[in-house]
Parts: sequence; structure tokens; C-alpha cells
Amino acid sequence: MRIILLGPPGAGKGTQAQFISKEYDIPQISTGDMLRAAIKEGSELGKQAKDIMNAGGLVSDDLIINLVKERIAKPDCANGCILDGFPRTIPQAQALADADVAIDHVIEISVPDDEIVNRLSGRRQHPGSGRVYHVDHNPPKQEGLDDVTGEALIQREDDEESTIRDRLSTYHEQTSALVGFYQDKAKEGGDVGNAAPNYDKFDGTQGIDEVKQQILSALKG
Ligand code: AP5
Ligand code: ZN
Repeated sequence: MRIILLGPPGAGKGTQAQFISKEYDIPQISTGDMLRAAIKEGSELGKQAKDIMNAGGLVSDDLIINLVKERIAKPDCANGCILDGFPRTIPQAQALADADVAIDHVIEISVPDDEIVNRLSGRRQHPGSGRVYHVDHNPPKQEGLDDVTGEALIQREDDEESTIRDRLSTYHEQTSALVGFYQDKAKEGGDVGNAAPNYDKFDGTQGIDEVKQQILSALKG
């Protein structure tokens, strides 16, 4: 099963991707996590991405498309994957379609802008695994430490208020068009051998567990 998670910064894409990944035993492919790992390694990709990410902009389509194409060709994606944060522009979505990468489900998680700033300022992340916590809504068992490894949690550099606002503007200008793009695809129906994706929208202001139950039941349906 191949799933796209769509939604603004802080909607809960990473949080829900981890539940789906466990349920279906398919990998979460977070382009944001891959770019942060590249920055940490100091690779060429990381050098190109760092300033753009810290300014709340988008890394170039060509770089990202190549990164994702290489990643989904790996053997652990044979039974599918969860695309978290990709595609993020119409050219990225078009590149997937042109490469005949069939999508089974598009899951939109919607949260109004006002709530995003509060959410992201309380987020803590385990850099090694990408596991996400929130100081109030999903606290780790021990303050500041990852539940699985016991390693220290960090705050993302782009979770500063002014950068969050820039990321939200970028979402509305460049990514929200994908809602219409995939809704149209779902309505149009598929071609022979290339089914149209199902499109479902979820209210991401509900509790983490409620959103999880609704997504998992839509995927089973
Ligand atoms: P990326 O890492 O993808 O960031 P993002 O899209 O801004 O999304 P976030 O990771 O901030 O939010 P999320 O929806 O995953 O929410 P989470 O589950 O963590 O990308 C970062 C940057 O990389 C981009 O800005 C761009 O520069 C670059 N980039 C990445 N992909 C790219 C691409 N394809 N093309 C070009 N550039 C790209 O949850 C957030 C917080 O809320 C957590 O604390 C969580 O515990 C809490 N929470 C989650 N759900 C709930 C709930 N239901 N109720 C209460 N709290 C909740
Ligand atoms: Zn994320």
C-alpha cells in the first residue's frame, strides 16, 4: 500500500505516519527527516538544504524528486510506503505520476494556522528515529528523553515562531494546491492497471488517538 500524507506543518503527519508504519509494516519516508539527516552528515545535499529549511522555504524539486525516487526503489518499499512531506508541489506530484508510481490513498490532515504555532513550539523530536513528542499532548515517559532509546530529545531549528509562519505561508502558496490535484484524480477514476487514489480528509484538531483510529479505519475500508 502506498500512502501520501498531506497537510500543513505540524498537522501530525509524522505522528500518524508512525502508527500506519507499524500497522502495515511499511516504511515512513519523511523528506524532512532525510534532509535533516543530510544536514547532520554535512553532505552536499545537506549544505544546499540548510538555509532554505531554516528560512521556511522549499528545497528544489529536482533534488527532492531524485532523493525520493532513489528511496522508494529500495527493497524495504516493495510492499509500499508512507510518503510524509512529499509531494509538496505540483511538479513533485507530476513527477510521481510520470514515473507511474501508483498511490492507493491520499490522507489530508487539516489543522487551522492558529493552532500550528502552539503545537510546534511544544514539539520535541528524537533525531535518530524521527519519533515525535509534544510536551503537553504526547509527553515522553521521562522528560526530555526518547521512550525507546533513552536518548535526548531536541527542538527543531525551524520550530521558531517566525519560521513557523514562513513555513505556513509556503504551505498555502505551494503545497495546498495538491489538495485539488489529488481530489480531482480521485474523482476522475483510474486508467486500466493504474487505479485512482482514495482521498480522505481528517480533522487534525482532534486528539492524536482519535485521528489515528479514523485514519486506520479509512485505510481498512
Ligand atoms: P518537514 O519535516 O516535512 O516539516 P513540515 O511539513 O513543516 O511538517 P512537520 O514535520 O513540522 O509537522 P508534522 O505534520 O509531521 O507534525 P508532527 O507529527 O511532527 O519538512 C521540513 C522542511 O524540509 C520543509 O520546510 C522544507 O524546507 C523541507 N522539505 C521537506 N520536504 C520537502 C519537499 N518535498 N520539497 C521541498 N522541500 C521539502 O506533529 C507536530 C507536533 O504536534 C508534535 O509535537 C506532535 O506531538 C503534536 N501533535 C500531532 N498530532 C496532534 C494532535 N492530534 N493533537 C495535539 N498535538 C498533536
Ligand atoms: Zn513531520
